[in-house]
Amino acid sequence: LFTDVTAAPADPILGLTEKFNADTDPRKVNLGVGVYQDETGKLPLLAAVRAAEERLAAEPKPRGYLPIDGMKLYDDDVKALVFGEGSDAVTSGRTITIQALGGTGALKIGADFLKFLNPDARVLISTPSWENHRALFTRAGIEVGEYRYYDPARRGIDVDGMLADLRAAASGTIVLLHACCHNPTGYDLTPAQWDEVIAVVKAGGLVPFLDMAYQGFAKSLEEDGAVVRKFVDAGLSFFCSTSFSKSFSLYGERVGALSIVCADADEAKRVLSQVKIVVRTNYSNPPTHGAALVETVLKDADLRALWVDELAAMRDRIKEMRQALVAGLEAEGVTDFGFIAEQVGMFSYSGLTKDQMIKLREEHHVYGTDAGRICVAALNAGNVEYVSKAIAAVL
Ligand code: LMR
Repeated sequence: LFTDVTAAPADPILGLTEKFNADTDPRKVNLGVGVYQDETGKLPLLAAVRAAEERLAAEPKPRGYLPIDGMKLYDDDVKALVFGEGSDAVTSGRTITIQALGGTGALKIGADFLKFLNPDARVLISTPSWENHRALFTRAGIEVGEYRYYDPARRGIDVDGMLADLRAAASGTIVLLHACCHNPTGYDLTPAQWDEVIAVVKAGGLVPFLDMAYQGFAKSLEEDGAVVRKFVDAGLSFFCSTSFSKSFSLYGERVGALSIVCADADEAKRVLSQVKIVVRTNYSNPPTHGAALVETVLKDADLRALWVDELAAMRDRIKEMRQALVAGLEAEGVTDFGFIAEQVGMFSYSGLTKDQMIKLREEHHVYGTDAGRICVAALNAGNVEYVSKAIAAVL
């Protein structure tokens, strides 16, 4: 049965963690996967999450099946967080939000539903994009193309190229957009550039799919979420995937959501009925614990305020680490890496070549993706000097 099965390559991101775990060198640093670590190099358990855990544990509940589309209170709270309490997208009843297995799970449910809607569907992703976008949409049977995004020559976004590629796309083409903290480059469109993108998307009849895995990591939750509201204000129907892996440090709980903004409440009901079939035929219904934690925090004013503060502290620490890396590189004579402090989110797109990244890994035990992406959220005062020296050595 399996004689013709060939060995698949390791995952470009999670495969690095496997290699890192097998590395016995005490100096090793994992800047591969997008995971925030605190100043001591540990994965944090947020105080807001700990308090929610304690509340849930004080009144343990039986674990029945959740509805196919997830816990209703969670879905409602997430919808309010993503779109804003009084948003017309919420009050009109034209938006559905379903609990999903992290941001990836939300993307996959969205992709499967899009394939159901249009068997000839095509999606455009940015060059470059998160490695899994291409694989995920391809596996969902959707042809993947690209629009220009990052221009290495000027270390920034090629907005004209992006707009030209979107203008050239056929009506009905899905456009995967990163709502904030573009992964892997760390370069986001300005509000005015978003307006231009929205105008082109609208004029061309394109189908926007916003991936928002890092809300609160560039600026505040509201500021990072402003892009979603722009799409609502433009009167567009669109998809939005949300992840709480990073913002709640709940990676292993697989807690996220998929929202779909429809034309009206009746359409939303019909869409939900079809999306539920996609969920039911994939994993039946989502798990309880992660969503219960997030919902406990979101609904309680004190816990929510605590979480917002903790998220701000993670964001600020990442910014400090960007400065520390720039300074560390300068101390090693590398003076043209100031761009690291301009990028936002968890990643820096370092410009290092694949060969340099391999050298960094093999000779210095510092892990980043072959594309040159490094997770600055995993730097700390104890490893930033070592990492700076290692990068300087391979340059
Ligand atoms: C990343 O880009 O490193 C994260 O989104 C984790 C993942 O699943 O790839």
